Amino acid sequence: MGKVIFAASGKGGVGKSVLISNLGAVYAERGIRVAMVDMNIGLRNLDIYMGLENRVVYDIADVLSGLVPPRRAMVKDKRFQALYFLATTHNKEKFTYGADDIAVLYAYLRELFDIVLVDGPAGLGAELKLAMTGVDKAIIVTTPEYVSLRDADHADQILRAGGITDRVYIVNKVNASYFASGLLPTVEIITSMMKIPLIGVVQYDDAIHVSGNSGTPAVLRGDSYITRNFEKIADRLLAI
Ligand SMILES: Nc1ncnc2c1ncn2[C@@H]1O[C@H](COP(=O)(O)OP(=O)(O)OP(=O)(O)O)[C@@H](O)[C@H]1O
Ligand SMILES: [Mg+2]
Repeated sequence: MGKVIFAASGKGGVGKSVLISNLGAVYAERGIRVAMVDMNIGLRNLDIYMGLENRVVYDIADVLSGLVPPRRAMVKDKRFQALYFLATTHNKEKFTYGADDIAVLYAYLRELFDIVLVDGPAGLGAELKLAMTGVDKAIIVTTPEYVSLRDADHADQILRAGGITDRVYIVNKVNASYFASGLLPTVEIITSMMKIPLIGVVQYDDAIHVSGNSGTPAVLRGDSYITRNFEKIADRLLAI
């Protein structure tokens, strides 16, 4: 049975979707059967990061309404043996489904795939609670900034209160020279603010930004320190 891994953050724009797209590519390249679910209801963009936007016909609301079975709604990423993508809906107003519906969907996907990667929404409200219900593990993404860290800690508290005991975090957009300048919180400060295990760091790199805009996750652009950053996170996510 597969594992549902959920990316959360609190603050927006910290790199959840970039993380999910790269983790999906790393696992799929290893022959692991991966499902990706975009839970940014009304604000979808993971399809663009994966270069699949022109192939999306159905979305999660079509699945939950019973219009199509999940396998029909999921887009197969042809670059891999088994990576499938389920888009979120554009129309937030028409999304009338609850946490129980989402949990049933995750349970179904867990039966079909080895790993289900859920790209969570920004914010700490109803959308987070909807998306996190029934996941097995949460990975909280933060940047090395106090605003982001505070929101990450709040998100962590909400996940904990929601019964998700398996929680880890990563620090994204790290710029080593800023660390050295003392202008940003140091690794020591970050680890003292977060109460869960740190499983990886991703450096700030324009190549990641460019990759997202070209529909090719950075890890598919050949071996680089970025690839190794994501591979380490992928390994530790499965190990811990
Ligand atoms: N390590 C990085 N280096 C450089 N740019 C990055 C890095 N990680 C993410 N970005 C850029 O930061 C922006 C936000 O990333 P992303 O969309 O993954 O964040 P998010 O947390 O999913 O945002 P949202 O909360 O809106 O869903 C994008 O423009 C992306 O290209
Ligand atoms: Mg996102």
